[in-house]
Amino acid sequence: MKLLITGGAGFIGSAVVRLAVARGHHVVNLDALTYAACLDNVASVADSPLYSFEQADIRDRAALDRIFSEHQPDAVMHLAAESHVDRSIDGPGTFIDTNITGTYTLLEAARAYWQARGKPQDFRFHHISTDEVFGSLGPTGLFTETTAYDPHSPYSASKAASDHLVRAWHETYGLPVVMTNCSNNYGPYHFPEKLVPVVILNALAGQPIPVYGQGENIRDWLYVEDHADALLLVLQEGATGRSYNIGGENEARNIDLVQTICAILDRLRPADAPYASLITHVADRPGHDARYAIDPARIRDELGWRPSVTLEQGLERTVAWYLDNEDWWRALQSRDGVGARLGVKA
Ligand SMILES: NC(=O)c1ccc[n+]([C@@H]2O[C@H](COP(=O)([O-])OP(=O)(O)OC[C@H]3O[C@@H](n4cnc5c(N)ncnc54)[C@H](O)[C@@H]3O)[C@@H](O)[C@H]2O)c1
Repeated sequence: MKLLITGGAGFIGSAVVRLAVARGHHVVNLDALTYAACLDNVASVADSPLYSFEQADIRDRAALDRIFSEHQPDAVMHLAAESHVDRSIDGPGTFIDTNITGTYTLLEAARAYWQARGKPQDFRFHHISTDEVFGSLGPTGLFTETTAYDPHSPYSASKAASDHLVRAWHETYGLPVVMTNCSNNYGPYHFPEKLVPVVILNALAGQPIPVYGQGENIRDWLYVEDHADALLLVLQEGATGRSYNIGGENEARNIDLVQTICAILDRLRPADAPYASLITHVADRPGHDARYAIDPARIRDELGWRPSVTLEQGLERTVAWYLDNEDWWRALQSRDGVGARLGVKA
């Protein structure tokens, strides 16, 4: 297949690009190269004849029309987005522009391209979204594909709006879409402003490891390479117009996640004192959702997919990757806002 992947220089998008090329797909990576992008993430496939790169913004309709017409993709996998909740609290405008207006512009470009080709039913527009659109759970319960939307942050509200647009383009125009909502990803090439790399890199630097509030918030952690595998499966086997929740079957409290990372570092890179002694509780994020948890029944029962690693196995691989790839993360630490506490204005 020829895949047009948006956001392929980001964390999850680059994992999809690498896996798709490894599986013999042609990939066109479309990315605006914002602060969150890093072309080194796809360096391993950059010279492949299966790979090409287009620097473009998903809000730029003329650029999108040219790219569709030049590359003639069989499918779109849409991952480009502003993705950091804390940044969305400080500056929601770019989240509205990229996640809502950008998705609208991409949908319209895809629709025009699809209609001009005679509306092939095997075309796919795969929209990648988050479980944060469902809001927050209490101590029990799981998000299913029919859970009512109840987003709480500017980020999740903008992603919820984009999900609604994609559904509407299917219902109204018949565009063949599939949708996925996944839980928190972690793994190699995770930008150093997100929780897991922050813990690893602060620990290695001997700096305080910040934990928001008491660290009681629960997330379901999904290893990014498992996620990429699930996305390619949904793209090829998912039913048109259907959405699938993707989870890691790995619920953990933030404080337990941080303790686990510290224990792995104690083994792999022992220091004078246990790394957990650096854990520092800081002011909580405004509107911090208490618990996210995915019911993975649909993707498991209909498509036969399950995650391949436990949280402990995935974290061990992730910590080892950061220890081996210091050049990659050092270069990103000087980018705007990285290392600063964001999202406390509210
Ligand atoms: N990271 C997670 O845990 C997680 C969880 C659930 C869902 N998601 C979703 O998965 C997708 C990818 O997330 P990620 O963590 O890889 O994000 P990321 O921030 O690492 O990467 C986003 C990429 O999109 C590009 N981009 C941003 N605005 C753009 C624009 N206007 N035009 C073109 N490109 C643009 C950036 O340059 C970057 O390369 C997002 O849609 C996100 O909402 C992420």
